Amino acid sequence: MIEKVLVVVVVIGIFFDRVHCQGSCRLTDGVSMTCRGKNSLRDLDTTKNYSQVDSLYVHQSNLDLTFDLAPEEVNLNRVTLLNATDNKITRIGSRGFNKIKNVQFLYLSNNQISQAQPDPFRALEKLELLEMDDALEGNTEEKADMIRNFFDSKNRFIHLAKIELNKNKIEDIYPKTFCKVEGLRRLELSNNRIQSFSFARHCLGELKGLMLAGNLIEKIPSDIWDFLPSVSSMDISNNPLNCDCDTVRLLRDDDVIFLNQAETKCASPPEVEGQRVFELKKDYCSTARNPRGKASFFQFIVLFVIAIGILWLYKKYRERLSHLSSAPVGYTNLQHEQAVEPEFV
Ligand SMILES: *[C@@H]1O[C@H](CO)[C@@H](O)[C@H](O)[C@H]1NC(C)=O
Ligand SMILES: *[C@@H]1O[C@H](CO)[C@@H](O)[C@H](O)[C@H]1NC(C)=O
Repeated sequence: MIEKVLVVVVVIGIFFDRVHCQGSCRLTDGVSMTCRGKNSLRDLDTTKNYSQVDSLYVHQSNLDLTFDLAPEEVNLNRVTLLNATDNKITRIGSRGFNKIKNVQFLYLSNNQISQAQPDPFRALEKLELLEMDDALEGNTEEKADMIRNFFDSKNRFIHLAKIELNKNKIEDIYPKTFCKVEGLRRLELSNNRIQSFSFARHCLGELKGLMLAGNLIEKIPSDIWDFLPSVSSMDISNNPLNCDCDTVRLLRDDDVIFLNQAETKCASPPEVEGQRVFELKKDYCSTARNPRGKASFFQFIVLFVIAIGILWLYKKYRERLSHLSSAPVGYTNLQHEQAVEPEFV
């Protein structure tokens, strides 16, 4: 009896495991398809017609985007949205996107991409949005190289307006990384480990929104609006900002809306530590705010007083000297006068 039950349990277990392993795709309303489980896309039923599918959702499918996404016969030309979040994707290459050249919205968040073949997105000429939050793995340099590689492309990314690279522990981004994406309007780099801005001049000329919340930025370069001329909204909350006067003045720029102001605080200098940048007193930078300036003014006063003192002492000393020396001079004069006098007479 027990053996029979065990056999049934094992058989059921194997059956569910196979179903689970193989995964499956489901057409929901004729135009969107959801695939779940391992190889779900690669094992698509090739006798069916998928040419109407415009939104493709693929999850927990262990995609390898250096290979074909779906079988040769399957037509996915209508797909404009691919949501491949949460797939343990580790590699991407251009081959993975060849079957979906018309994708406009590409979601690749929650993956572990550590390898990218050269120019992976070259086929996606209609791309408008690329979301890769919590998607990249590797050390500082590997990530910086990989991100540069994404956009150093034959594709001119004419339509690409929004790039999201939040939560990737990014420390470094090469200054020219986004130069090719000329129409970029919104760049999200929040919750990374970026310490400083390093965007090249004459890039990002169209950028309107720059999200840098939750990084390690202390200093905002004073010429920031020169190389980001169109930015109209910015988030630099939750960064260890050094609220020197240059920074405070930049942040009081009226042309830019700063988001999450309540979370935008000074980490230094000590007298304003923990205070909200946008609630600092109006006179924080207009009056004698710079302690070093104060000190040097005080030093100037002291030096001035000392100088006056020295002058006064010198004058006194000279008076005494001339007093001392006046006697012989008077005497010689007298002598002279005396000597002349008879001649005169
Ligand atoms: C698939 O369906 C579309 C319209 O629904 C049709 O135009 C096309 O010819 C079909 N393709 C195949 C291979 O049957
Ligand atoms: C993509 O899929 C994930 C996981 O199912 C979901 O949380 C997210 O909202 C989806 N995004 C879009 C734009 O469909």
